[in-house]
Amino acid sequence: MSERYVLSIDQGTTSTRCIVFDQRGHLVSVVQREHRQFFPKPGWVEHDAMEIWQHVQRLVPGALRQAGITAEQVAAMGITNQRETIVLWDRHTGVPIGRAIVWQDTRTAGLVEELGTAPGAELVRQRCGLPFAPYFSGPRVHWLLEHTPGLRNRAERGEVLLGTMESWLIWNLTGGTDGGIHVTDVTNASRTMLMDIRSLQWDPGALSFFGIPASMLPEIRSSVRVFAPARAVLPGVPIAAALGDQQAALFGQTCFAPGDAKCTYGTGGFLLLNTGTHLVESTHGLLSTVAYQIGEQPAVYALEGPIAVTGSLVQWVRDGLGLIGSAPEIETLARSVQDNGGCYIVPAFSGLFAPHWRSEARGVIVGLTSYITKGHLARAVLEATGWQTREVVDAMNADSGLALRSLKVDGGMTSDNLLMQFIADVLDVPVDRPMVAETVSLGAAYAAGLAVGYWPDLDALSDHWHRAAQWLPRMDPAHRAEEYDNWQRAVRRTFDWQKP
Ligand code: G3P
Repeated sequence: MSERYVLSIDQGTTSTRCIVFDQRGHLVSVVQREHRQFFPKPGWVEHDAMEIWQHVQRLVPGALRQAGITAEQVAAMGITNQRETIVLWDRHTGVPIGRAIVWQDTRTAGLVEELGTAPGAELVRQRCGLPFAPYFSGPRVHWLLEHTPGLRNRAERGEVLLGTMESWLIWNLTGGTDGGIHVTDVTNASRTMLMDIRSLQWDPGALSFFGIPASMLPEIRSSVRVFAPARAVLPGVPIAAALGDQQAALFGQTCFAPGDAKCTYGTGGFLLLNTGTHLVESTHGLLSTVAYQIGEQPAVYALEGPIAVTGSLVQWVRDGLGLIGSAPEIETLARSVQDNGGCYIVPAFSGLFAPHWRSEARGVIVGLTSYITKGHLARAVLEATGWQTREVVDAMNADSGLALRSLKVDGGMTSDNLLMQFIADVLDVPVDRPMVAETVSLGAAYAAGLAVGYWPDLDALSDHWHRAAQWLPRMDPAHRAEEYDNWQRAVRRTFDWQKP
């Protein structure tokens, strides 16, 4: 019989990618397509869910063609996705109701502030393991039900379905209006504020708190299991995994033991620490989230520190300021100077995520003098990612009572050597990058392959992890402490900037 493969679909914030992997976890083909970003008002970010589904329908056959394989050679497919982005659609027509509201969208900031102090809020927070912040999807559903004429009535009549992007794709892949299954997985559900993170079921208290009819919700399933065979695009191929993209990266980095951590640097930065089957409640501004659940086994949890802006700051320097022509040029520009010249940039473009959770914060550049050149600004841009990581690691060490010993990294920004060295320097731990940098897609493929027995167990997956590069800390401790102090003072400037 001819060789078999696993295919993953990564539905991300800026693009959707489809990758074929072989049994050694090597990448055989990769195809990718960007989708449009809609910014109808300041702070609003939307996607067209139908455009994304159309891209998936073209990308999957494209990935098979590029790999030179047939659909019969695909043992399973796994799906991973941008997480807190929510889409509503009509159960009978399959047409999305408006556009998907993206995780970066801050339209619910006022609503979240109001809800966060309403009776019952504390119980919701404890049940879901998340703070009240516009980042999460539950408040978005509440907002849509309040602002879309006739929607609540339609929802109450059972005509409206809601889901995160994996839910939308699985429904379409399994037949859509013709019997598509309406499901989500525990990791995606753990980002909605609607799931009880201990029972892994929708929490009736949270549903009534946000005024969301239960009939809209998908069924929650474990992340690693056969959901159903696909009926569209790859008919007969089992959809055997669904995980949020950051959880998939944790899986792809084979962080299977408690204490294992990874940070993915893309649009934002997402540091996850595996805490095992033990749910750790953060007292330092981190999130409790589900890392993965394999079949009927107990769920594995993680502590997460999401950073809203990392790579998107470099994009802003490229597109908003025009200081560089392409993202990798930031490193060359930063290397044109010895240090930041006393300049710090805190990119609180739409507030700050972990560990601060300040939606009212706005970005600042401090320490400007006539000495500062674009080289210093470029350094401050990269250093912002390093210091934001340090803040999250400090919170994680405080919550877990353990000091992080090393950090596995992945994502687009890890090709920037200056940044990786800076991260090792400010964390004072080694930073490791694996051979396969596509850890999000790899994690979804691993999970799907595991579910159908393509790979026997987690150990077989761990055997595939090989280090491609390592950065060791070499910053003078006194200098590190002084710079961190400067950074923290700059952060405090962002908090009350909007207040008169
Ligand atoms: O929580 C948001 C995260 O899932 C988005 O990831 O890589 O699509 O920007 P990415």
